[in-house]
Amino acid sequence: MSVELVDVHKRYQDGRRTHEAVAGVSLSLTAGSLTVLAGPSGSGKSTLLALAGGMTTPTSGDVRLFGQSIVTLRDHHRARLRRERVGFVFQDLGLIGSLTLLDNVLLPLLPSGASNAAAETHARAWLARLGLGDLADSRADKLSGGERQRGALARAVVTSPDLLLLDEPTAHVDRESAAEIVRALGELRDAGTIILASTHDPRLVEREEVDRVVELRDGRLLA
Ligand SMILES: Nc1ncnc2c1ncn2[C@@H]1O[C@H](COP(=O)(O)OP(=O)(O)O)[C@@H](O)[C@H]1O
Ligand SMILES: [Mg+2]
Repeated sequence: MSVELVDVHKRYQDGRRTHEAVAGVSLSLTAGSLTVLAGPSGSGKSTLLALAGGMTTPTSGDVRLFGQSIVTLRDHHRARLRRERVGFVFQDLGLIGSLTLLDNVLLPLLPSGASNAAAETHARAWLARLGLGDLADSRADKLSGGERQRGALARAVVTSPDLLLLDEPTAHVDRESAAEIVRALGELRDAGTIILASTHDPRLVEREEVDRVVELRDGRLLA
């Protein structure tokens, strides 16, 4: 099981000029690995994450998700692959403030048809594992930044994805939350999850749980 990016390019049309956000990236991510994607703002990290998860398609090159080319997959197949096998923690997290933390984490389980009781037990277990057990019934908009970030992680992993993508997961969190997040990522990696996390946070880059750091500059990986 792996994710392969093969000479991936992504060009954006910006009025009359085109901008190449990702300019020929090849990268192989294997099961049970935690890779950090480092690089300054604007280097293409978020675009590369979206490509790796099949949220967007490359202008040229290919992304093979678990052996399937996302370029040739039909849209609804790609959407299903994403829903069933990819977990994503976006930079803006996307928690619904008016719902409880528990209900936010339960949302991705709704399409699977799991029984409510089993789904709730599973969701609560993840919240407890991320140090949020006591906050399960709190509204998401009452939580701190670090708690929200951990909540978004719980929501991304509750479906047991094979690939977990995180965009700057420790950017606005306290030390304790950052440590808890990286610990959880290490455990998921040990359980076989493919993890790719963008960051420019040295607290994440320097952690022992990280298997590999790749550096992005102007859409290209540094050697
Ligand atoms: N939807 C878009 N349309 C046009 N340009 C974009 C779009 N998304 C990103 N870009 C541009 O692509 C480059 C890389 O952006 P991004 O992937 O967000 O980098 P990073 O996450 O490293 O900050 C930037 O110059 C950005 O302005
Ligand atoms: Mg970004």
